[in-house]
Amino acid sequence: MTHAVRLRDYTVSLGPLAESLPEALRELPYSKLFLLADSHTAALLPPFLDRLADARLVLEPGETHKNLHSCTQVWQAMLAAGLDREALALHLGGGVIGDLGGFCAATFKRGIRFVQVPTTLLAMTDAAIGGKLAVDFSGVKNIVGVFQNPAAVLADPAFLTTLPERELRSGFAEVIKHALIGDPALWATIRKLQTLDSRLDWQALLRASIRVKVRIVEEDPLEKGLRALLNFGHTIGHALEAYYLDSTEPLTHGEAVAIGMLTEYWIACGEDARFGELKEVIARFFPWRDLSSGAAPALWQLMQQDKKNAAGAVRMATPAAGIDTLRLRAIQESDLAHALDFYRALR
Ligand code: GLY
Repeated sequence: MTHAVRLRDYTVSLGPLAESLPEALRELPYSKLFLLADSHTAALLPPFLDRLADARLVLEPGETHKNLHSCTQVWQAMLAAGLDREALALHLGGGVIGDLGGFCAATFKRGIRFVQVPTTLLAMTDAAIGGKLAVDFSGVKNIVGVFQNPAAVLADPAFLTTLPERELRSGFAEVIKHALIGDPALWATIRKLQTLDSRLDWQALLRASIRVKVRIVEEDPLEKGLRALLNFGHTIGHALEAYYLDSTEPLTHGEAVAIGMLTEYWIACGEDARFGELKEVIARFFPWRDLSSGAAPALWQLMQQDKKNAAGAVRMATPAAGIDTLRLRAIQESDLAHALDFYRALR
């Protein structure tokens, strides 16, 4: 059964793609359908969707391909397919395909409509919703992009059974974040969870998590204020992810954000009761990572590009008392260094 979470401009459908896609396409007449996937998600392509597509492009998978070179491939394929402004792009994949495909669609001929079909937990609960579209550039994550809402988001929890456990945990960091900042009932549920597997009621977990995201992006679509709360854990998290991206042991987005949430919360609030709960939840789902001890200066350098920075100050967003309540706080390199030392001592 499909559930709909409605936003002002579009709907997030949560249920089998075989139900939600035909319905969405009926409501979105198009001249041509352009399908974008990566070599992993192309294998998940339902035959009925493959038959519907007038043109398709399959990219290399992974964050290292979320760049302008891949955009060039997409724009070239769109040109070769003769897409006009009534064309519809459909993105089947995780955050990389959704963000990159969305950015290409939002800029091709000054914008064609696109449908996000997220296949990972991370994309279903976060990346596909809210219209943030970007690629990485010059070693900085999500630094070139636009805001543009999709025409629809079709999230099918059945795709979650295709994910390696590490990938599922990566997306779960955003569910933890949504629960902590905006849904005490979901937070209570998460605190009781012991493992992540297909026996969980993913439809219910996703619905609650998506509702937090939707409530915040509807109130502040262009991140003038409250939306920065969704960046909790991402100031340090993004820097960690970028720092380890080309290493032999890259961190997943969620692993980096989990460390980011712990360290940012600790900087902002210290070891209060909620910190204790957060530490317990994160320790259950994310392995402790041996961060290199000399990393702080390089991480600090990466944090200079954070999009929340203002007047030369690096700022991080943490939850304050009450749900949907933002505390934006400037941090210093010494805060970062102390927090990393604190994290290292948690082993
Ligand atoms: N992923 C954070 C946001 O959409 O604002």
